[in-house]
Amino acid sequence: MNKYYSEAKLSAYEAIHEAQKIALGPFIFQASRSLVKLGILNKIEDQAEAGLSAKSISEDLSLPLYGVKVLLDMGLSAGIVWFDPETERYHLNKVGHFLINDEMTRVNMNFAHDVNYAGLAKLDEAITDQKAAGLGEFSKEHETIYPIISQLPEPAKTSWFEFDHFYSDNSFDRVLDKLFSFKPKKIVDIGCNTGKWALKVLNYDKDVKMILVDLPQQIAVAKENLKKAGLLERVEFKEVDLLSQDIPQIESADFVFMSQFLDCFSDEQIKMILSKVRKSCEGASLAILELFWDRQKHETASFVMNATSLYFTAMANGCSRFYSFTDFKSYLSEEGFNIDEQVDQIAIGGHSLLLCSKK
Ligand SMILES: C[S@@+](CC[C@H](N)C(=O)[O-])C[C@H]1O[C@@H](n2cnc3c(N)ncnc32)[C@H](O)[C@@H]1O
Repeated sequence: MNKYYSEAKLSAYEAIHEAQKIALGPFIFQASRSLVKLGILNKIEDQAEAGLSAKSISEDLSLPLYGVKVLLDMGLSAGIVWFDPETERYHLNKVGHFLINDEMTRVNMNFAHDVNYAGLAKLDEAITDQKAAGLGEFSKEHETIYPIISQLPEPAKTSWFEFDHFYSDNSFDRVLDKLFSFKPKKIVDIGCNTGKWALKVLNYDKDVKMILVDLPQQIAVAKENLKKAGLLERVEFKEVDLLSQDIPQIESADFVFMSQFLDCFSDEQIKMILSKVRKSCEGASLAILELFWDRQKHETASFVMNATSLYFTAMANGCSRFYSFTDFKSYLSEEGFNIDEQVDQIAIGGHSLLLCSKK
């Protein structure tokens, strides 16, 4: 993270190389994706130390030799593979290994391609007009992606859910232990999505009750999933658009859980939602699970957050993002919440859990 707070010390030669990687980034991305999708990297990995020639790859995968070579040349320049001139065989570099074996890379690459790639070309328009200018790739009628998440065409829908679940699911188990150390009897989940967290909570404690809040489209999916699991009895559902409606009064809840929810809104909207939660859930503590790019130990995590933040800008609603903790804590404070406890870098996604109470 230190590199964010001081000038980068690069030679002019290194800097111009970095600038070219950015200028031609879409070429690197699409070539890498093709090397993965067409099975070329897997084929090379299968040969382990021996490596593989372009001709063998072309024959084994029934791909044109021209195509295999043009992709592998980009792979050399991107550091994905290396070439042994004596044997004329290609080998995987570590980057190539991660491209095909790392789950976070797979999820991010599919999310980048299937949900964002086309729409991101309108990022400048999204910034100037403060609207999700790229969302037109999926719908001309909607201003935000949220009402149509469950109706996105494939493969965008699968890639959206895999991205969302990959990051939050990995943190859920650790959060469960923490929340249940307070012995809650009733938990409200705002932005419950498919009901994944609710399933975990209800299976963790056989007596706990839940109230799930989301847009009608997501509530329908969550209801179906909880019905299949035979858990409907302990759950109430509230179809609420938090931007235009109030949350119905909720008595005696111990926690209001919001996971990757407040990042779906602008700073002003977050404050409005916090004030609605404050009014409708008297006495409940907040348990907020969020991604903050300035609370990460590893540069890779900050990089992923700052890149994928732009999905909110171009595709989701044009006004939200993964916030810095510095900004986010000021919204909580302005709305009268104290942060009583904070746990950072929960699991692989780098989430922070904030336990908050009213001042
Ligand atoms: C990124 S998902 C987070 C899902 C889940 N909590 C998790 O951690 O995986 C955001 C959720 O907020 C919901 N949402 C977005 N805008 C909303 C609104 N205006 N009112 C209610 N829910 C909304 C979406 O439908 C979606 O289910």
